[in-house]
Amino acid sequence: MPESVTGNSPEPEKIPVITVDGPSGSGKGTIARRVADHLGFHFLDSGALYRVVALASLNTRTADDDPEGLARLAATAPIDFAHTDNGDVAVLLGGQDVTQQLRAEAVGDCASRIATHAAVRDALLQRQRRWCQPPGLVADGRDMGTVVFPHAVIKIFLTASAEIRAERRHKQLIEKGMSANIGGLLSDILERDDRDYNRKIAPLKAAEDSIEIDSTALSVAQVVTKVLDLATIRL
Ligand code: DC
Repeated sequence: MPESVTGNSPEPEKIPVITVDGPSGSGKGTIARRVADHLGFHFLDSGALYRVVALASLNTRTADDDPEGLARLAATAPIDFAHTDNGDVAVLLGGQDVTQQLRAEAVGDCASRIATHAAVRDALLQRQRRWCQPPGLVADGRDMGTVVFPHAVIKIFLTASAEIRAERRHKQLIEKGMSANIGGLLSDILERDDRDYNRKIAPLKAAEDSIEIDSTALSVAQVVTKVLDLATIRL
């Protein structure tokens, strides 16, 4: 997997990158993964890296206002990705499968708080860039097109109304047999949006050369088709 590759590829700017940025619950992870599968490209879920660091900080009781301690975790946490038998990708922390733990709202909330520290973002920058490997990469997150891969050939900014994002998250949790309250999910989403859009460092914002897609009234398949149509033209 790219995370275990040492050093950067030669001339990474020649490797095609597609970035999919957007707020929490906009569906960017699902879209980015399907586009990557379709093109045979690598896939980077950058939010998973922030979530693993958040989980490591909760496990080690590193305070979310301790940038040095958090940056150390971000630089050194033993993170790995492994393909599972059913074709999914599992996230490993110290060899232990933490994929399910990462989806917990408390971990997402902590990730959004630790992501406000420049030292944490710097520590994760090089780890993220190692995913840029032939034949290409699809990366999803908040600052993929603005900071991490500014040379990306296609930059998507995916939005959806907060209400529909809360509904989608509610459905996902119920399907997984977890309990969820839609009002609570909506206020969590609004709070996280506020932090992600308004933080001083690498805030969530559309890159100037990005293409905005509002997925409120679109299916996953329709959004994937739009991105693949762009890929046909630009790659
Ligand atoms: O995409 P996600 O919900 O898994 O991300 C969790 C948090 O991590 C998100 O609220 C903000 C942070 N994050 C970030 O700051 N930059 C990224 N590229 C990805 C995630």
